Amino acid sequence: MKILMISPEVAPFSKVGGLGDMAGSLSKELSLMGHDVRVVTPLYGSVKPSAQRRVALEPLIVHLGGFEQYARVWEERIPGAPESKVYFLEHEKYFGRPEIYEGPWGGHGDNCERFTFMSRAAMDLCHALLWYPDVVHCHDWTSALAPAYLNTTERGNDLGQAASVMTIHNLQHQGIFSKESFAMSGLPADLFKADGFEALGNFNMLKGGLYHASKITTVSPNYAREIKSSEYGCGLDGLLRFRAGDLVGVLNGIDTQVWNPQTDSLLPMRYSRFELDGKGYCKEILQTHFDLDRDHTVPIFAAIARLYDQKGLDWLADIAEGLLKNMRLQLVILGAGDSALENRFRELAAYHPGKVGVHIGYDEALSHLIEAGADFFLMPSRFEPCGLNQMYSMAYGTLPIVRATGGLVDTVEQYQENTGQGTGFLFQEPSAHALYYAIGWANSTYYDRPEDFASLRQNAMSRDFSWKRSAAQYEQVYQWARSARR
Ligand code: ADP
Ligand code: GLC
Repeated sequence: MKILMISPEVAPFSKVGGLGDMAGSLSKELSLMGHDVRVVTPLYGSVKPSAQRRVALEPLIVHLGGFEQYARVWEERIPGAPESKVYFLEHEKYFGRPEIYEGPWGGHGDNCERFTFMSRAAMDLCHALLWYPDVVHCHDWTSALAPAYLNTTERGNDLGQAASVMTIHNLQHQGIFSKESFAMSGLPADLFKADGFEALGNFNMLKGGLYHASKITTVSPNYAREIKSSEYGCGLDGLLRFRAGDLVGVLNGIDTQVWNPQTDSLLPMRYSRFELDGKGYCKEILQTHFDLDRDHTVPIFAAIARLYDQKGLDWLADIAEGLLKNMRLQLVILGAGDSALENRFRELAAYHPGKVGVHIGYDEALSHLIEAGADFFLMPSRFEPCGLNQMYSMAYGTLPIVRATGGLVDTVEQYQENTGQGTGFLFQEPSAHALYYAIGWANSTYYDRPEDFASLRQNAMSRDFSWKRSAAQYEQVYQWARSARR
């Protein structure tokens, strides 16, 4: 199949969170399966230069509503997928800055224009290359105009034959702009209606994309169920119930070339479930890195996340003092986001030297060391469409403690005290209290039931989270979308 991905992030080139990992590793896997995969994404100022990148087209004329813009298009492969093609859109005004969605002082005021440009450029690029995909796969609101182009402005030409698949990674972000900004898309004005791009008088990009896509996916079966309810639907649950027959949840995989403790070059020592010495050594190095007490008998509880409401780490900040007072443990936190929460964690580390390590910022290498060196991994998410870190954690023998929501339910198996089965610890209630007790349960397992702790670790490390199965499911979704399109 000829597959066009349109994505605002593609790891390893650009990444804010799991969307970048997913778009990069799914594209790689599909390409290795023999599909002709091409990815369109912006060339942000933060994308590292590369000797392999070459100019594919200059200029690409992009037809926005009532005006034209020009881009230089660069081409490069996804590492590990020699047949894949990533097309980077270079446009100084839209993408020359380093940040993807938000600048240091809040959202980019021109996000509507920037990402309208991305979707439109993907269409114009296909025409310029005379390369017409069978399927266009869009990721979240930033590429949600593409399905509508296929149904309207492109319907009568070769590009309009393509089916579209819209993947929801996170319903919280919908791309909501003023109604006036819809004109820039160049889409027919009558698409701005309740059964389309209009919501409460505004232009809602994601909503229109969900109306127009041939098929819709989200990143776990459980989140696919949840988003049809008002609790998780972020105002679009009615639409998602309406399209329920076209909506399916496909669990994300992980890139096992990047996240594998046996081969991970970012670790001071590698290990496997049969040879765990390396994990102990990584723990030592992690303790040294954060100036924690060098004691291998104390369990380390870690978190790595964007520090926003979704991730529930404010609950951890609420209970941290109590945990440190009542339990023998160490805490390690890596993240950036909400500045008030960043400061709470900075203070916690300052008050508890030797017990709490905090790094505010984004650090890929450190995230690998933490996954390897920690004993438990905390994901108390309020909602979690899929979540990747719990899977990385299990692969690294670090037991996840997660709230029972979204993809966390589909990936973590609850610990059974009487049998030692399971791969982690789940709790239901969205509260600091519930998190406190889950941590207490995990901590007592570590100290009082070491055989159970060891078997949980073995179970977790033997699970297969590779992309193989999920990529095959996407193949089926694409076929399903194509027959719907026909
Ligand atoms: P989300 O996409 O909602 O942020 P995921 O669990 O799907 O959640 O993916 C998050 C990804 O971003 C993981 O690969 C995680 O390691 C990475 N990540 C998040 N924050 C940081 C950070 N501060 N430093 C390094 N990696 C981070
Ligand atoms: C989103 C979600 C996360 C998911 C990721 C990749 O950012 O918040 O749960 O794992 O997308 O699909």
